[in-house]
Amino acid sequence: MTTGFTVEQLRAAASDAVRAPSLHNSQPWRFRLRDGGIELSVDPRRRLPATDPSGWGARIACGAALFNLRLSLAVAGTPATVRLRPYPAEPDVVARLVPDAPRPPTPTEQSLHAAIGRRFSNRAPFWPDPVPADARWRLGEAARAEQCWLELVIGTSAVNAFAEVARSAHRVLERDPAYVAERNSWIRAEPTSDGVPAASGGPQSEPQDLLPQRGFGGRNRAPGRDFEPEPLVAVLGSTGNTATDQIIAGQALQRVLLTATDTGLAASMLSQPIEVPGAREALRLSLGRFGTPQMVMRIGYGQPGAATPRRPVNEVLDLPVGTDQRVVH
Ligand SMILES: Cc1cc2nc3c(=O)[nH]c(=O)nc-3n(C[C@H](O)[C@H](O)[C@H](O)COP(=O)(O)O)c2cc1C
Repeated sequence: MTTGFTVEQLRAAASDAVRAPSLHNSQPWRFRLRDGGIELSVDPRRRLPATDPSGWGARIACGAALFNLRLSLAVAGTPATVRLRPYPAEPDVVARLVPDAPRPPTPTEQSLHAAIGRRFSNRAPFWPDPVPADARWRLGEAARAEQCWLELVIGTSAVNAFAEVARSAHRVLERDPAYVAERNSWIRAEPTSDGVPAASGGPQSEPQDLLPQRGFGGRNRAPGRDFEPEPLVAVLGSTGNTATDQIIAGQALQRVLLTATDTGLAASMLSQPIEVPGAREALRLSLGRFGTPQMVMRIGYGQPGAATPRRPVNEVLDLPVGTDQRVVH
């Protein structure tokens, strides 16, 4: 292919990309066309210095957005070839996508793409029903298809040991006033285009809870609505831990989350044990795996909920001067 992507293709694909998850719904991404390629970059103005000093979270989020971009272009019949971190001198450029030979989308691409708008972080208690073996297998396959692994924490003692690591990481973070202030600054009482709406933040933590909730100021829980006693905890990991590995892990995260949605499962993320280096190492050792844990998910059958807001796509596009800025639906 010699011709490049158009502004309309960029706009359509970016509208799907922005549905990706991000730390505190900070949406740390920008999209542009350069020499016929779509480029996705970390938005340096949307970094979270206290929560994410290394930029790991921003790269995970951009990796997830990249997976949506890939799906969107593939479903439109214009799949892309992707180069990760294409310019050593511009480390914020996460990926460059150029047109590949046109082909019809695969059934998997179609079903994962259809799940983009239905996926959301479900922080409410799940039903106690176990996730069946074939669904667990699909989730593992989703991670493997993106060069990552998914380790399910199975059995009461393993889940309790994980919970201990997660709670101690949570306590470490909660002792840091800058972290707490940053998190609180992203809680939204009124609907806005970013941040975590109070209604999506999950219920307030209670002393009997096994897993620590990030603390987005949620509602008090109805009596008896406890969390599931043995949650399905899944740890997503990558081979290495370079910036490129983190972008790869972000793509795998989104593939796992969309696969869960497509399978009728709900998920929430808990990354406190990834953010605290000692906890991450303890988690890695407890799994007995090579590679690096990049995200932890709680997966199960959830009650219905709603997707969280995003900024209008025009706010995240860098278009050449003179391009039609109208939003096209
Ligand atoms: C790197 C990363 C870390 C996250 N960590 C947590 C977490 O510890 N606790 C939590 O409840 N949600 C966590 N999330 C989920 C985000 O808060 C969520 O994606 C964002 O608020 C947008 O909401 P949505 O997932 O419903 O679209 C994380 C997401 C990402 C990408």
